[in-house]
Amino acid sequence: MTAIRDLRILWSLLRGHRRSGDHAADLSAFYGGQAADYDAFRERLLPGRQELFDKLAARLPAHAHLVELGAGTGRNLAWLGERVGALSRVDLVDLCPPLLDRAATRWKEQPHVHCHLADATQWRPHAPCDAVVLAYSLTMMPAWQTALDNALSILKPGGWLAIVDFTLVRSDPVLARIFWRYWFGHDGVWLDAAHGEWLRAHCPEHSAFLERARLPYLLFVRPAYYVFLGRRPEVSLAERLPSL
Ligand SMILES: C[S@@+](CC[C@H](N)C(=O)[O-])C[C@H]1O[C@@H](n2cnc3c(N)ncnc32)[C@H](O)[C@@H]1O
Repeated sequence: MTAIRDLRILWSLLRGHRRSGDHAADLSAFYGGQAADYDAFRERLLPGRQELFDKLAARLPAHAHLVELGAGTGRNLAWLGERVGALSRVDLVDLCPPLLDRAATRWKEQPHVHCHLADATQWRPHAPCDAVVLAYSLTMMPAWQTALDNALSILKPGGWLAIVDFTLVRSDPVLARIFWRYWFGHDGVWLDAAHGEWLRAHCPEHSAFLERARLPYLLFVRPAYYVFLGRRPEVSLAERLPSL
């Protein structure tokens, strides 16, 4: 029943995300009790994922190799519908066994979809890939710059970096920004306007839009989220900068 499922999730969100210093253990503690109800609640909490996958699908080459970092239950791949079968390989990477187990069960009939229990800041595929997706996972990675460096480094030159996530908007009133930082931070989601700046600087060829989300049970407040699709440049930012 939806109300009972929602209550279980809301209870976990209210208890919050601990920070013990062991990121993997903290994720399992946070999501362990939510895994069964995760997808149904996140359909209403995490907007823009379908738009991201629609935009990405229109740009992917034939037989593409796609990687999702912080893939959770593997639900997002289903936004591609039958196009999943046309991909040559998919790697779903997550650090949280209770969620990743669901991804493995969901995609067990598709032998080209592989699930990896690993840290997104370090995991590397066997060969450079055509697209890397991070859907509401970047803000849960304390070492977000390392995760983005890794994401770009595993892409082929010209490959697609596709991201959807909540963010702070610098022009919002300071009290709103403080509210959102603490509200999300309680659940281990660390909003940072610097994410967008990093992405624009490292992927000059990109398209992006910013929207306001409607959250379940919160009628009067609407946090910002963005959808970003950028290409890995042929030459990286570090190589383009003149040496000092
Ligand atoms: C809000 S959930 C989003 C899951 C999925 N992308 C979705 O759209 O439903 C964030 C995910 O990031 C994962 N995550 C956080 N830090 C990670 C890391 N360093 N490496 C891999 N996964 C990580 C969490 O375990 C969780 O599954």
